[in-house]
Amino acid sequence: MPPLDLAVIGGTGLYRLAALTGVQAVEGDTPYGAPSGPVRVGQLAGRRVGFLARHGEGHSLPPHRVNYRANLWRLKDLGARRVLAVNTVGGITDAWGPQVLGLPDQLIDYTWGRTSSFWDGEGGEVLHVDFGEPYTPSLRAAVLAAANKAGVALVDGGCYGATQGPRLETRAEIARMRRDGCDLVGMTGMPEAGLARELGLDYACLAIVANWAAGCGDAAEITLEEVLANVEAASAGLPGLLEALLG
Ligand code: HPA
Repeated sequence: MPPLDLAVIGGTGLYRLAALTGVQAVEGDTPYGAPSGPVRVGQLAGRRVGFLARHGEGHSLPPHRVNYRANLWRLKDLGARRVLAVNTVGGITDAWGPQVLGLPDQLIDYTWGRTSSFWDGEGGEVLHVDFGEPYTPSLRAAVLAAANKAGVALVDGGCYGATQGPRLETRAEIARMRRDGCDLVGMTGMPEAGLARELGLDYACLAIVANWAAGCGDAAEITLEEVLANVEAASAGLPGLLEALLG
């Protein structure tokens, strides 16, 4: 099977890529266990693209139960060298309101207890990968250029705070994250980005803002309906962006 030109990992609210044609569901296992589901391989702009739903196609896996290692290993096994991770997030700072799309350039990891490395000490090997720039600058630049070409507005840069979930954050937690310098908050950004670096994959996060984070907007409560409606509206620009990225 020829290698993938691009892999896309879909987050909450994005379970299929409708723009893919000739789609084949490719099943497969990894030395790290089963990925979240089949990789749906198809064509977009004449290129081979693989799509994997991070939470499973029926959204059955919570963020702390996703097998991030298996997902990335599987995509690399299918020949992917570039991974565009779509992450649904809450917005903290002004530029990151609901329905905004953006490309963070930094992150802070608040998750705990997740398997966060391929290097667990078996064989006595320990690997400390450089992670000063957690998202691959060349892939970020390519996505920004594609968005420009496709006329899709993207926020360029910001700090992603990765929380454990699956519950949403308290107002105090978000206030602390704001003080720490976070612009957006999500539950799936880590360990995914770090594992991608360990595998040598180019990796960028396309964040879709579903809601204001706790205490940042007027809403008394964050509802799933709000989250899904905003993700759907904000995803409208995705096919054009991907086409420009691949074309
Ligand atoms: N917090 C964390 N993760 C999220 C949020 C949020 O407010 N919205 C969507 N994913």
